[in-house]
Amino acid sequence: MRIYSTRKLPEKHIQSIIHNIDGVEVEMWPYEDKPISREELVKQVEHADGLITMLSDSIDEEILAKGTKLKVVANLAVGFDNINLEAARKHQVVVCNTPDVLTETTADLTFGLLMATARRFGEAISYIKNDQWNSWSPYLLAGQDIHHKTIGIFGMGAIGEAVARRARGFSMNVLYHNRTRKEEAEKSLPAQYVSLNDLAEQSDFVVSLAPLTNDTKNTFNKEFFQKMKSTAIFVNAGRGPVMNEADLYDALTTGKIAGAGLDVFEKEPIGANHPLVGLPNVVAIPHIGSASIETRTAMIQLCFENVLQVLQGKEAKTPVKR
Ligand code: DGY
Repeated sequence: MRIYSTRKLPEKHIQSIIHNIDGVEVEMWPYEDKPISREELVKQVEHADGLITMLSDSIDEEILAKGTKLKVVANLAVGFDNINLEAARKHQVVVCNTPDVLTETTADLTFGLLMATARRFGEAISYIKNDQWNSWSPYLLAGQDIHHKTIGIFGMGAIGEAVARRARGFSMNVLYHNRTRKEEAEKSLPAQYVSLNDLAEQSDFVVSLAPLTNDTKNTFNKEFFQKMKSTAIFVNAGRGPVMNEADLYDALTTGKIAGAGLDVFEKEPIGANHPLVGLPNVVAIPHIGSASIETRTAMIQLCFENVLQVLQGKEAKTPVKR
């Protein structure tokens, strides 16, 4: 059986999982920092029983149709909007993701991004690097308070709840909007379910952690930003296309909102010349929500475990529920 990974992953983590299983061969795209070409992916999938994919790989109908031996695709992410689930079902390919193992790490990053944006870390770091610090002054790089403010979470899955727990540690009032009510979390946090409209109007921090679906695409647009407080901050650590970047740019440059912390973008990767990156009130980071060494290692191991389970005719550990 042949498992192909579309990115070079550390051998030592893989060997610890597959070392005692006969007849399993692992091949990898040879680069850690360069995505596999489409041409190579098409070629490799023809001989693969299992694929380990990155969120930057488009696993569409063409790829799935070429994988005549393919039984399982394990995506190194909790999100799976890069995979055509309909086509996977048609070609009888099991799709797996990496939930749970990345929840706390992604929540840490999300709350950190909120703090960095509210307290202007980006500008403050540049201030010293550019040798601008000549004196202490009362409103030098003064930002927005976080404690006792209202956070509005869009997408109250496991990561949303973990961010809400962090917010409660800062004595914040927690609002949320989700496709289903989370009654357990409402009581234990506590958190209050609100309409999208109320989330926009009442939150000091709007935090998007929602997956990309037809329903969530373009949720954060001109209409939404217009309803936000002018002192409010928008944070996106979910998926880029859930926001409209042109409308966000407009809201940030016309003072409709105070700032934005962004870990994700409509099209990734972005370059230094991206319009949002040049704004002083934006903290932009390169989709590193789950990027701690411990968590990425756990994600890699979970991907291989999922693939092996399926190739051995067993239930995957974390199949995507459709
Ligand atoms: C995911 O796993 O979907 C995250 O976006 C990775 O940071």
